[in-house]
Amino acid sequence: MKYLIILAHPNSASFSSSLIKALSEHLANKGNEVKIRNLYEIGFNPVLSADDFSSFADNQTPKDIAIEQEYVKWAEHIIFAFPVWWGGMPAIMKGYIDRVFAERFAYEYVDTGSNGDGLLSYLKGSMICATGLSSEDFEDSQNAMKVIAEKTIFGFTGIKPYKQLFYGSIPVVSDETRKSYIENAIREFSE
Ligand SMILES: Cc1cc2nc3c(=O)[nH]c(=O)nc-3n(C[C@H](O)[C@H](O)[C@H](O)COP(=O)(O)O)c2cc1C
Repeated sequence: MKYLIILAHPNSASFSSSLIKALSEHLANKGNEVKIRNLYEIGFNPVLSADDFSSFADNQTPKDIAIEQEYVKWAEHIIFAFPVWWGGMPAIMKGYIDRVFAERFAYEYVDTGSNGDGLLSYLKGSMICATGLSSEDFEDSQNAMKVIAEKTIFGFTGIKPYKQLFYGSIPVVSDETRKSYIENAIREFSE
């Protein structure tokens, strides 16, 4: 399986970064191909601009978006990994989706209404999220995020949802618990 991991964390020592390091090594050891796009490391510009819209209108794709779209075309399974910030994804991750999952690449409008036809139905999709709140306290936001992912990001583009994993209380749990979360993520992707 070809895994594309989109990671949004500015700190390589963070829980999210450590989890992705361990998970990607595990997937590669199992014979999968793994590519990681660390959005901070590559300095991804997350702002969908007027210039982007004019390029799209002229059937042109801005170069930085085209590069990321090639990675998506290569993949069979896309994993979004990020810490939850203010109940959702970090702005850089949201901006990646705004710009890379563009009309005619990720979806098309159908004649009859506002509902799209997903163009990324060849992909499986997963989300791995770290939260400050405990899983119980985070439950309502978690459900909201699942709906957003399933109905819009995955639903609209046709991506088949695979796993949505949430790991809670990260700033206060012990190293042992963090390790057990990482082991859990590896198990979830071992099926
Ligand atoms: C800007 C910011 C906003 C945050 N908002 C939330 C939030 O809405 N809900 C929550 O549970 N945790 C929130 N947190 C806590 C982070 O989710 C937590 O620190 C992170 O998951 C820890 O994992 P990491 O080591 O990968 O960063 C926020 C943290 C920051 C820096």
